[in-house]
Amino acid sequence: MYKLATSILSADFACLGQQVQEAESANVEWIHVDVMDGHFVPNITIGPLVVQAIRPVTPLFLDVHLMIEQPERYLADFVHAGADMLTVHGETCPHLHRTIEQIKELGIKAGVALNPSTPLATLEEILRYVDLVLIMSVNPGFGGQRYIPSSTAKIMRLRLMLDSMGSKAELEVDGGINLATAAEVVGAGATVLVAGSAIFNKKASIAKNVEQIREVCRQII
Ligand code: DX5
Ligand code: ZN
Repeated sequence: MYKLATSILSADFACLGQQVQEAESANVEWIHVDVMDGHFVPNITIGPLVVQAIRPVTPLFLDVHLMIEQPERYLADFVHAGADMLTVHGETCPHLHRTIEQIKELGIKAGVALNPSTPLATLEEILRYVDLVLIMSVNPGFGGQRYIPSSTAKIMRLRLMLDSMGSKAELEVDGGINLATAAEVVGAGATVLVAGSAIFNKKASIAKNVEQIREVCRQII
């Protein structure tokens, strides 16, 4: 089975609490929060205040994706704001093991994310310490980009790596997940699908969009 983590990046921020509750009513499993600093990625989004604002609105797992340089400076702030998991980019952490341990010492789950061009080999020494690996299937920075097709082979190779070491870490895929790509990604071995623009858009209701993703994925499970 897989979980659906809906990215609030494409939500209507003027009524964010309501949008999160609608996603909860549509039975998504996680809320994915994209934090961007204008340095590691070109865009600037949100910080701990927004996590703190949505924490009382939903009991859902808050999956916080840190696309920021020197993420270690903000870990405690995000934990105190109510994050359930912090995922840092391997590319931003020269002392990745230390950063992962810091997150776990703060009492929540820890994940590592990789950009499309970063090889899986960089995970070799850290895999046993993480609760989640996030494979970026677009270059991070914006919602609504197209899925990079070579991501599927990368997901399959990571699935083999995790299975061969008996790891129960989640395999999350982020970027360009929609009706055309969701089933392929689950079929390749992902356990968490991040979806932003496929869920929060004006084409249909949140509930309808979630149901359509479930439907295409049912065909391969
Ligand atoms: C991209 C973010 C994603 C993004 C996904 O940098 O990490 O979580 O919101 O958006 P969609 O689902 O529209 O590709
Ligand atoms: Zn993300």
